[in-house]
Amino acid sequence: MNIFKNIFKNNFVLLLFLISISGSVNAAEGTTFKNQKPGFSFEGPFGKFDKESLKRGYQVYSEVCSACHGMKQLSFRNLSQPGGPEFSVEKVKAIASGYSIIDGTNEYGEPIERSMVLTDRFPQPYGNKDEAKAANNGAYPPDLSLIVKARVDGYNYLYSLLNGYEEEIPEDKDIGDLSYNPWFPGGAIAMYQPLYDESVEYEDGTIATIDQMSYDVTNFLTWAAEPTMEERKKLGFVVMGFLVVFLILMYLSVNKLFRDVH
Ligand code: HEC
Repeated sequence: MNIFKNIFKNNFVLLLFLISISGSVNAAEGTTFKNQKPGFSFEGPFGKFDKESLKRGYQVYSEVCSACHGMKQLSFRNLSQPGGPEFSVEKVKAIASGYSIIDGTNEYGEPIERSMVLTDRFPQPYGNKDEAKAANNGAYPPDLSLIVKARVDGYNYLYSLLNGYEEEIPEDKDIGDLSYNPWFPGGAIAMYQPLYDESVEYEDGTIATIDQMSYDVTNFLTWAAEPTMEERKKLGFVVMGFLVVFLILMYLSVNKLFRDVH
């Protein structure tokens, strides 16, 4: 049994060491500002998305953010799937048909324009990267499908960024034509403040404060980055349960096998 104990002990120390390094790497990447943490329903191992907030978040994305940002990983049909905002299929069809796309050419070689359908991806605001940059102070508005995964402490950062524009610029900052946002690394950001109180009129009557819209669109973008999160958490529990049973069986059989070995 000693050999098993040793393996366990050594690996345990290695594991602790790895965990401690990964923590310090994360800390080193963070900005000078500590992210605000409003608390989201999807946090923790039992967390689920707040569907009403996801619906409002989609409204903020489509009415405000989509003017400059695309979300190329999402299709319209995702909006009605389980684990997301769960709009009705009829509603999503109606949303999609409000956009059009060039799809192939006719017999004269002319482009054919058609309305979008459930299987189409979200529309792109600009034809290409250069056009997007030219319209935005030379900075490219990144695709938002995976932005929450692409930033340290993603959703808290996103919430803090949207909610954190400040009019008063510290004297030691020279931001030129850009806007000041202390949560953005360096403070000078090429995205003008996108949200103001009542930028949207929520369909469900919720009052659209900057804080509320930042919260809702952060929920929506966190779901978009991992539309199957709820499924993953459920599966995680099944796997953990299996592992616990497996561990107990292993322990009992190892004990039995080595009972007479001294
Ligand atoms: C008028 C155009 C415009 C609108 C509207 C807009 N953005 Fe942006 N956004 C930009 C530009 C330009 C950048 C790049 C900023 C930079 O690199 O300095 C950006 C950057 C970002 C970033 C990346 C920040 C980082 O850490 O690199 C996020 C996240 C973001 N926008 C979210 C949003 C959300 C959410 C909305 C809607 C509430 C929105 N944006 C509306 C133009 C826009």
